[in-house]
Amino acid sequence: MSESMSESTPLRSRRSCLAVPGSNPRFLEKAKGLDADQVFLDIEDAVAPLAKPDARKNIVAALNEGGWGGKVRVVRVNDWTTQWTYRDVIEVVEGAGANLDCIMLPKVQSAEQVVALDLLLSQIETETGLEPGRIGIEAQIENAQGLINVDAIATASPRVETIIFGPADFMASINMKSLVVGEQPPGYDVGDAYHHILMSILMAARAHDLQAIDGPYLQVRDTDAFRKVAGRSAALGFDGKWCLHPDQVAAANETFSPRQEDYDHAENILDAYDWCTSEAGGKMGAAMLGDEMIDEASRKMALVISAKGRAAGM
Ligand code: GLV
Ligand code: MG
Repeated sequence: MSESMSESTPLRSRRSCLAVPGSNPRFLEKAKGLDADQVFLDIEDAVAPLAKPDARKNIVAALNEGGWGGKVRVVRVNDWTTQWTYRDVIEVVEGAGANLDCIMLPKVQSAEQVVALDLLLSQIETETGLEPGRIGIEAQIENAQGLINVDAIATASPRVETIIFGPADFMASINMKSLVVGEQPPGYDVGDAYHHILMSILMAARAHDLQAIDGPYLQVRDTDAFRKVAGRSAALGFDGKWCLHPDQVAAANETFSPRQEDYDHAENILDAYDWCTSEAGGKMGAAMLGDEMIDEASRKMALVISAKGRAAGM
């Protein structure tokens, strides 16, 4: 395993991951023109049971029509405890596998559930002549069982690209006494009730070179509150957040990009470090950049900001 994600993995930018209900062809069309890094076309909780068959068809058509630009194209299927998962995967991947980047699996509870999806994808790829292993898996952690098993889930298949926090289902699963997703539960005034969950997901992601994505914020008209909640996971090191509304996209792109001054500073550190370790710079392991002492650890921190900035087009 590599030492630093930023040195080994060209980051696929996922600052903003826009949810689009597969049951609504108008929303599917509109999403193509929005500035989200990723779209996920939903057959799960945003789609009523009776609408799921049509949603699968709409999604296949929208993916094959194209027009998604450089967006990461993801479909969220239903979880393995329902009767819909196998049909979601078969219909979508047989119908549009060449125009699809990842399948998002919600409410993942165990490594076996990821393995089951991996096997199904492999069979479809073989049968339909798709490139083996190209379609990735995004695993959503939405309950206590999933969090306890998050490390095994992260390593269950080489297809896994992201670990996603699903706060709404998670809050319900642990009986949290709150209805406002992402906000602190009333009565809990000793810290951040989500810290342990976010950190556990982030550690599993970083330990295995995956991306960590924060879930939705439901008060879609309150962009300031969105920025605040997104800012918490961005500060910890998360790579992006879900957007449920086009208004949240710009806020997510901004929040999960480095600030311009931090990006510039990171580039300066990298240049200064290159110079000080070179023959001409005296082969030194540490040096001063203005009033700041920099060394190999500074270089690693700077690489993270620099990689995020470059992925964001800075
Ligand atoms: C998303 O699926 C959530 O449950 O928060
Ligand atoms: Mg959910």
